[in-house]
Order: sequence, then C-alpha cells, then structure tokens
Amino acid sequence: MDLQISGKKALVLGASRGLGAAIAYGLAAEGVHVLAAARTTQSGEISPFITRIAVDLADPTSVAVLKEQLRLQGGVDILINNSGGPKAGPAINQSRQSWLSAFDAMAASIFEITDAVLDGMIARKWGRIITIGSSGVQQPIANLALSNSVRAAVVGWSKTLAAEVAGHGITVNMILPGRIDTDRVRELDHLQAEKTGKSLDAVREASREGIPAGRYGRPEEFAAVAVFLASEQASYITGSQVRVDGGMIKGH
Ligand SMILES: NC(=O)c1ccc[n+]([C@@H]2O[C@H](COP(=O)([O-])OP(=O)(O)OC[C@H]3O[C@@H](n4cnc5c(N)ncnc54)[C@H](OP(=O)(O)O)[C@@H]3O)[C@@H](O)[C@H]2O)c1
Repeated sequence: MDLQISGKKALVLGASRGLGAAIAYGLAAEGVHVLAAARTTQSGEISPFITRIAVDLADPTSVAVLKEQLRLQGGVDILINNSGGPKAGPAINQSRQSWLSAFDAMAASIFEITDAVLDGMIARKWGRIITIGSSGVQQPIANLALSNSVRAAVVGWSKTLAAEVAGHGITVNMILPGRIDTDRVRELDHLQAEKTGKSLDAVREASREGIPAGRYGRPEEFAAVAVFLASEQASYITGSQVRVDGGMIKGH
C-alpha cells in the first residue's frame, strides 16, 4: 500500500535509539525526510532521508533552539513526540523537583514543540501529531510513578488538542507501548533483577507470562503503527490511543 507520505517532512524526538529510532527508520523507508532528534547525534547508519539534530528536552534553552530551527525551515508535516522515560520509583516521597523535572522533559517540552509546528500544519491543511505514551496511563505500572502520572497529563493534552485542530486536516493520536524490547526495557528489567535478587532471565520470563502474546514486542512492530498513523490513509483517526502491547493490558 502506498501510504502517500513520500516527500513529507517529519521530526522524530527521542530518535537515537529504541522506539524513536525505529519510527525514524520506518518513516524514512516511506520516503519521508526525517529530522531525528536526541541528545546523542552520532550514528553508524547513513540514510539519505535521516538528518540528526541535537536537542535536550529537559533543557528549555535547547528546546527554544529547536523551535527556532523548525521555524527557519518551515516546520514539519509529521511530528513524533517521544522522550526518555523518567527514573523508576514509587509515588511516595518524590521531591517537588522530581515531579517538575519529569513534567518539563516529558510534557512541557513536547507541548511547546507541537505548538511550534502547528501553524505550518494549519496553513498546509495537513498534519500528523503522534505522541508516544505508555500502557501505564491505562493500568499504572508499579514503581513507575513519575511516568504513570506525567503521561496521564499528556493524554489530557493530546485529546484536547485533537478536537481543536481536527477541522484543519490535522490528526492527533497517542500510541501506548506495553513491553517493547528496547534498551530502556532491558535497563528496567536489570533494575528489577537487582531489586528482587532474581536473575534477568527470571524477570523477563515473569514479564512474558503477563503478556498473552507470550513475548515482548519488537521496535519495528511498534514503529509500523506510528507510520500508519502518519499516513494519508489514517486521516479519520484522531483523538485516539492505540495500544501496542500484545494484549498485556487486561481492561478494555
Ligand atoms: N519500550 C517500551 O516498551 C516502553 C513502554 C512504556 C513506555 N515507554 C516509553 O516510550 C519512550 C521511548 O521508549 P524506549 O524504550 O525507546 O526508550 P529508550 O530506549 O530509553 O530511548 C529513549 C530515547 O529518548 C532520547 N532521550 C532521552 N532523554 C532525552 C532528553 N532529555 N532529550 C532528548 N532526547 C532524550 C534518547 O536519546 P539520548 O539519550 O541520545 O538523548 C533515546 O533516543 C520512553 O519515554 C519510555 O519510557 C516505552
């Protein structure tokens, strides 16, 4: 199927590894010109469709520089809002600074960057805003209080924005990963193994048992959903949350 996005421009945040990197490659494979942003910009890969740019989403000055770059080059058609996950930890006894830092890096920064590209999308009457969340917004994950909480705020923002811009040909959606096998998930599994004294294999096996598909997802499987939501064919999907979790979340 021709997704009809060849030649469009995209900004993918958090694109140096994991889900963001997989989405950047997925869009590039469709002929989209991708600005792949992260703090790290080195990469072995050479794709004529991918340009790496530096941004630190936790640093308002760096976000302001990115917004100016976007303004100078006329914005993008597709925005993938993705960020690093916050530190693991419980809801009890988080410092005020931890809450504020997580909100800055995962919420305020993407709200600002989205605003910076919306004018251009409205003028061109076409746009795709796709934000990566977590299944934790539907079924909070133990010991990930910052993620569960701040991402819930992002859900409210995404749904509100979707209604505001739907009449301009712009769709706004979220994709919620369950357990996709990335470096971050491996790091979290290691932490869990250290905390419980279990082996890494035992931790991963226990995790797999909670997933009806019986395995972790692959980053490319996740990216395929993002690429479809970015396509012309997905023009009537907006204000939605799509779970990619192998059936892990037990509710509707
Ligand atoms: N994988 C899953 O199954 C899963 C499940 C639920 C939620 N999530 C969430 O989905 C997001 C992506 O997951 P992932 O597994 O791909 O994570 P990951 O492997 O840790 O990748 C995170 C990406 O974000 C970038 N990043 C981190 N901090 C940044 C900052 N301050 N400014 C700019 N870029 C930053 C990282 O690159 P640099 O370090 O180079 O900046 C990297 O490219 C995370 O927020 C994660 O919590 C993932």
